[in-house]
Amino acid sequence: MSTNAVISSRAPISHRLAAGVLERIATVASCTEKPGEILRTFLSPAMEEVHALMRPWFEQIGMKVNVDVAGNIRAVYTSETGQSSPVLIIGSHLDTVPNAGAYDGVLGVLLGLALVEGLGGRCLPYSIEIVGFSDEEGTRFGFPFIGSRLLTEEPSETGFLESQDSSGVTIRQALADYRLVHPEVIPSTLNPETAAYLEFHIEQGPVLESQNLPLGVVESVVGQSRCHVTFHGTAGHAGTSPMAMRRDALAGAALWITRCESMAAERDGLVATVGQILVKPGAANVIPGTAVCSLDVRHADDAVRIDAVEAMMKEAREIAAERGLKIETNQYHAQPAVHFDSEIISLAEKAVRETGLTYIRMTSGAGHDAMVVASRLPTGMIFLRSPGGISHHPDESVLFEDVEAAIQAGLCFLDQFAFFLEKGGSNPLA
Ligand code: GLV
Ligand code: MN
Ligand code: MN
Repeated sequence: MSTNAVISSRAPISHRLAAGVLERIATVASCTEKPGEILRTFLSPAMEEVHALMRPWFEQIGMKVNVDVAGNIRAVYTSETGQSSPVLIIGSHLDTVPNAGAYDGVLGVLLGLALVEGLGGRCLPYSIEIVGFSDEEGTRFGFPFIGSRLLTEEPSETGFLESQDSSGVTIRQALADYRLVHPEVIPSTLNPETAAYLEFHIEQGPVLESQNLPLGVVESVVGQSRCHVTFHGTAGHAGTSPMAMRRDALAGAALWITRCESMAAERDGLVATVGQILVKPGAANVIPGTAVCSLDVRHADDAVRIDAVEAMMKEAREIAAERGLKIETNQYHAQPAVHFDSEIISLAEKAVRETGLTYIRMTSGAGHDAMVVASRLPTGMIFLRSPGGISHHPDESVLFEDVEAAIQAGLCFLDQFAFFLEKGGSNPLA
C-alpha cells in the first residue's frame, strides 16, 4: 500500500479516535483535589478517581488492568502469541501541577489507549502496556518522577523515599499507607520482556507552532537540578525595628532570586526558576525570620547546569554573609540530560513521515517520564504542537488535527515496531 493509501485508509478511524481522546481528557480533568482548578497529586483520592474512570476504558478493549505499588495504572494488551513476547510500553503521567492544564501527561496515556483501540482487536507480535504514571511533576513531595523511578530504578539506591510532603509524610510512608488501603496492588516491576518505551506529550513550548508543524520527534531532554535554599534571619516587630538593625531573610532571598534570573540570562540556553518561597513566621507585621526558596535549573549540557548551580549557591552564600543571614543549601535532585535511543528515534521519524507529515527533531526543556525510563529501556518521544506554547496553565490546549496526526503516526509506529522486532530488535533487559 502506498503512503497516501495508508493515510487515507486511517483517516476515518483517526478522526473518531481523536474525538474520543479529547472527550476522555475532559472527563479526566474533572478529577481534582481542588474545586475550580485541576490538581492531582501522587496517591491522592483524585488520582484514584482517574483510575476508576480509566479501568473500564481499558477493559472494554480487552486489556488487563492493574495498579502497582507506586500508584501507576498499567494496562496490558497481549500479543498474538500470548504472554511470552516483547512488550512496548506507551506511557505518560496522570498527576499535575497546581492549577494545571488538562493535557500535560494525560494526553500521552489516552493516546496510547486510542492506539490500542485503533488496532480494532488485531493482535501484534508484541504486547503493548499502557502506563499512567502516578507522579512526574513532583507536586506533592517536591521530588519529581516518583512513578517512573519506582518502576525502573532501585529506590534503595537513591534515598529519595525519605522526601517529605507539606504534612511531614515521607514518600516511604505514603507508599506503605497506599498498599495498606489497597492490598490488591501489584509490585512495581518492569516486565523483563519490555523492549522499548514510547511517550507522546504536548510540546509545552512554542517551537512547533512557530514552524507550523503538528508533530516533532524528540531526540533529547535537558538535564535538571532542584535545590532548596534557606535564608535564616531574625524575626522581629515590623514597627519597632529600625531598617539598619534588621536581618530580614526574605529581603536577602529576593535579592538572590533576581541575581539567579540575571545569571541564567547571561548563559546561553540556561533556565533557572524560583517557583516557591515559604516565609516564616509569615505575617504582615513580622520581619521574615526564614525564607525557604526552591530553585530549578536546566540546560542541555550537564556541565553548564552543574556550574550554574554552584555559582548560584555561591551567590546565595555571599548575599547571606553581606546581610548577616545564615544560609542552608540542599540540592535534592539532579537529573542528567538524556539522549534517546537512535533506533526508536528513527522508528518515530519513519512513522511520522509515513503519515505524510514534515517534522523536526527537538530537544525538550521540560522533564518527562521518558528521561527516567531511558536509563533502562530504548526510549523515544513524539511531541504535539502546543497552541500559544502554553502549558502548566489552565489555557493549555491541543489541536484536534494534531491529535489525529499523532494517532496516524502512532499506528504507523506500531507497525514499524513489529518490523523492527522481526529484524531482531534487541531486548535490553534480557
Ligand atoms: C515537568 O513538567 C517539568 O518539566 O518540570
Ligand atoms: Mn508538567
Ligand atoms: Mn508532563
